[in-house]
Amino acid sequence: MQAEIDAVGNVVGRYSCADVGAKTLVLASHYDTVRNAGRYDGRLGILAGLIVIEHLARSDARLPFHVELIAFSEEEGVRFGTGYIGSSAVAGRFDRRMLEQCDASGILVGDMIRYAGGDPAGIPKLARQPRNLLGYIEVHIEQGPVLLAENLPVGIVTAIAGCVRRLVTIGGVAGHAGTVPMAQRHDAAAAAAEIVLAVERRCAQTPGVVGTVGRLAVPDGVINVIPGRCELSLDIRGDETAKRDAAVDDAAAEIERIAKRRSVTIESVEIQRTPTVACSPQMQKRLAEAVTRAGIRPHRLPSGAGHDAVMFDGVTEIGMLFVRCGNGGISHSPLETVTANDANVAACILLDVIVNFADLA
Ligand code: HGY
Ligand code: MN
Ligand code: MN
Repeated sequence: MQAEIDAVGNVVGRYSCADVGAKTLVLASHYDTVRNAGRYDGRLGILAGLIVIEHLARSDARLPFHVELIAFSEEEGVRFGTGYIGSSAVAGRFDRRMLEQCDASGILVGDMIRYAGGDPAGIPKLARQPRNLLGYIEVHIEQGPVLLAENLPVGIVTAIAGCVRRLVTIGGVAGHAGTVPMAQRHDAAAAAAEIVLAVERRCAQTPGVVGTVGRLAVPDGVINVIPGRCELSLDIRGDETAKRDAAVDDAAAEIERIAKRRSVTIESVEIQRTPTVACSPQMQKRLAEAVTRAGIRPHRLPSGAGHDAVMFDGVTEIGMLFVRCGNGGISHSPLETVTANDANVAACILLDVIVNFADLA
């Protein structure tokens, strides 16, 4: 393939066809991970695409369309809070305000991109024109237990959960741990503890909605000082945007009530909001037909995890193929596991979809 690293750190390989004016089918996933991650989240989709294109090249198969394999940078948003940085650029949805976001040590996204050899000014040019795209397909581990329970190697994704992420800073009053009477305290960490439980309680009330406080910190905390400041992150998702938004609003109202009762201040900054996205029925059909041709029962399931595919909603048809996870479906953990056989089944199905794509292109 012609390969390059683009202005935002995506690694892009292009398997071109003879017709320069042909459309492009995008195969993609992300190469970044969470901390203390497994080995398959993201990279499996990149390697599946690589193996399939290698097979096409070896058999000198020429398609009536181009194929681009893209390894996206910064899908998880671990360092700067906001995910989908690489895929939003390719989808033409890059928000320049992201460049001003900073990590815990104050380093800006824009500076980090330059430091890594990228070029923030070149990002807008990465946007693919929808009219040039045939579709987007992402192979990804399920990151859950459904395919394991169904005893299926692969599944077809119907929808991808939308996510709201916020960074909340609680301002209390620092004081001596030994001399301030309990009734006179404005303990930021105690307020945070109530907030964590309030988010858990509210999200547990609505099936299909989940809420997580993944980061919780007392900056520069000291064992004998009442916490004057506490920082936490919110990640609230849902299988329907409206249900998710209702949970976000209720949680925010409860946080304000807790703050008022404890006389602490709340600063809440929203750093990501993506809608729940449906995968293209046409793409689901293509994947289901290929799964059936492979002699496997086509099973459809929603994704609670977010994926780069959401950036291409409304840009081109999106499809996702999930691969079974072992160890009870655990992910975002070194215990993440996939069998070589299931990975092979997924690659064969991806190849089948690609070689049969032309008929409906
Ligand atoms: O957070 C997610 O759902 C994905 O792993 N980025
Ligand atoms: Mn992930
Ligand atoms: Mn992922």
